[in-house]
Formats: sequence, C-alpha cells, structure tokens
Amino acid sequence: MAEPSSVVRLSARAEDCLRTGPGTPAGRYLRQFWQPIYHSVDLKAGSAVTIRIMSEDFTLYRGETGTPHLVDAKCPHRGTRLSSGWIEGDALRCFYHGWKFDSAGACVEQPAEEDAFCHKVSIASYPLREYLGLVFAFLGTGQPPEFPLQPEFEHFDGMVEIDSYSRDCNYFQNLENALDMSHIGFVHGDNVAIFKGIGLGRALDAEESAWGVTYGFTRPDGQKRVQQFGMPNIFYLTALPTDPEVGWQESMFWWVPIDDVSHMQFSVHRVPAQGDVAARIHARRQARRTDITIRHQDLARDVLEGRVSMRDIDKSKVDLVRLQDDVAQVGQGLITDRDGERLGRADVGVIAIRRLWERELNAFAEGRPLKQWKRDATLVPRAWGLAGNPAQIGGSGTGGTKVAEVIDVRPHVEIAVQLKALHAPLDK
Ligand code: FES
Ligand SMILES: [Fe+2]
Repeated sequence: MAEPSSVVRLSARAEDCLRTGPGTPAGRYLRQFWQPIYHSVDLKAGSAVTIRIMSEDFTLYRGETGTPHLVDAKCPHRGTRLSSGWIEGDALRCFYHGWKFDSAGACVEQPAEEDAFCHKVSIASYPLREYLGLVFAFLGTGQPPEFPLQPEFEHFDGMVEIDSYSRDCNYFQNLENALDMSHIGFVHGDNVAIFKGIGLGRALDAEESAWGVTYGFTRPDGQKRVQQFGMPNIFYLTALPTDPEVGWQESMFWWVPIDDVSHMQFSVHRVPAQGDVAARIHARRQARRTDITIRHQDLARDVLEGRVSMRDIDKSKVDLVRLQDDVAQVGQGLITDRDGERLGRADVGVIAIRRLWERELNAFAEGRPLKQWKRDATLVPRAWGLAGNPAQIGGSGTGGTKVAEVIDVRPHVEIAVQLKALHAPLDK
C-alpha cells in the first residue's frame, strides 16, 4: 500500500526537528546545550517536584541549604515518584520505603534492609546552574559545555523581568514564528508599534551568524530592525511593547519542549529604566499580574473551537500578545503538518532556521563536527526608536558592577498554568 502523501513528501530531517524525547535526533541535539527548565522563584527550599522536559521526567528539588538539584524521577526500588518524599539537607528520601539518595544520586540508606546494598543502587544526577532567575540544566551525556553567559542581562542599571509562558503546541512552531516578521501586522495588528508594510518579503533578510541567524527587516526609509536567533532554540530580540514607558522590549527567549505537543517559552526582558520611570513600570507590571485573570491558552482554545470571537474578548483581562500568537500557532495544529505548505519570499527566516537545523542534525547523525555556536557582543538586536522610549536597547548600558534585579512579572494565572504543564501530569 502506498504511504500517505504526508509521509512521502516530508523530508526526514524536517520531521526530525520536531520530536525531542530521549534518543530522538532533535532530543539528543537539544540535550547538548544548557537549557532553562524552571524558574528559581518557583522552587522553594526543602521542596521537590516532578518536571517533564523533552518528554522525560525528572525530580527537581531544592535542598535545605538552598542549592537546587535535578535527579531521576522515579525511585529505583519500586518506581514511585521521588518528588513525594522528604528532603533532608541536600539529600532526598523516598516516600514509599525511605531509601535515601544524596544529591549526586548515590543511594545512602535502605532502612528496611538489614544487609543494605546501597553501593549497587544509584540514580542519575544532572548539572544545574541558576542564572537570570532561571534554573538551567544540562541533560546530555558527558561533560557539559561552557555555560553561555548573557552579559547584557547581567550588569546594568535596571530590571530583568521574567515573563515566561507555556503554549500547547510543538516548540518548533514557536521557534519558526520568531523569524516570521510578516505575521506581526496581522496577528498583532492592534499593537502600538505596528507600522504598515512590516515583513514585506523583499525587505526581509536572514543570514547565518556565528550564533545562528541574523534576521532583519529594512523599512522603506532605510531604518532597520534586527533580531538574533541563537542555535538551537534561543532568540534575542526587540519585542513588541507591553508597557507605554518601555517601548520596544529587549528580550531573550528559550523555547524548551515539555513534550512534543507543548512547550515553555522561558523569557527574560531587559528594562534599563531608572528612578521614577522604573518605579512606574514596576507598579504597572505588578498590577498587571492580578489584572490578568483569563488564561490565554484557554481563551485561544475557545477562539479556535468557535465559542468566542477575537472581536469580543476583554483585552484588559488577558495577555493579548500571547493570546494572538496562541491562536496563530496552536491553530496550525499540535504538530503542524508542513507537507502542504506553500512558502514564499516572506518566509525567508523560517527557511533559514530549517536549513540550519537540518544541516546540524545531519552532521550530528553522521558523527561529523558540529558548528560551535557562540554569541559575541556584536550579535544584539536593534530597532528604530519609539517616541518617548526611555529604555534603550541593543545592549546599551552594559557593564559596571551593579547586578540588575530579577523581577517576576508573570500573571498569577499564568504561573499556575505553567506549573501544571511542567509538573508531569499523570495522565499524559
Ligand atoms: S519505592 Fe522508593 S524506597 Fe521503595
Ligand atoms: Fe507573534
């Protein structure tokens, strides 16, 4: 019997970008890089959670000393979730029969065994690092690579805002959307930064850089907006304004799969504002956390399934930019079928990302050397200014000794959705 056309026409390597479970090509490739997996503020000392990253479950806990640890999800005795147990110092004791594991994964106690065989039992333990308010993990094998620092977000006079979200579709759809500037005039057409003609195909360019892809849009007057995609799943950009005094936001995103049909966007925003301006931005951000009472993920589903029209929503109660992107990306399907696509000149960014990914996955599969991606200080985003924008962009104000304060600005309803998605639901 002939294969369905979708199987025949889809390149094997294109399909390989989408699935990230253990042992898959993209899963193995992504695990070569440090990935954010959680927010520091969500992990209290002395508590443990089961989290799902790239279709694999882990126990994430913070010892009583304050140090975070990441180990296997299940107890090697009889397989219950270790997150239900007790934290003792930096060790973890299983809820079921009390086996105890140190933070390196060694079994150190088996209370019911007179002839303990601890030396024969261990669990895996993974390197972690807390940085910019996020918990990063190295989930690959062997020695982790050098941890990539982002100096522009470390030292400046201002705030680093955390504003991550979860989305219910394959992570690669969001990744491709980043280098798709022509969606902005339609999906986000009501944003104050919108200007006519954005994303016209011949005004877009996408060039391979030392880090990934430099993606640009040149306005008819010659002004340029530049964004930096970092391999394999990072984006450093000027994002659409969500506060009248911030103007363009300078942001860094990481798209991390939870499983093949849901992902997190871990986001940090650089707000180099000071004094009264910073205080006003901060006050508005904190008020917004409670003003937003509708989960954009739920509302997007209502829109896509025909229960609600985008025209009728209360924009003050939902994160509008996320809702708009949800509708576009989740509307493509949980894992969109790229087989029937008709790409044009305006899709130059999408094509550039796919080419890089396919090239690297091919090299990885064949054991050839991989490009060592690295961002330097020249690979920063740029955009034309908005009137009255006090927050400078392009890494301005970097340096000095002052460490920017990390502030969580996620709406409270959003935190609940993220934790539910990340905490490895039993029914998935
Ligand atoms: S299942 Fe963990 S100690 Fe028995
Ligand atoms: Fe968007």
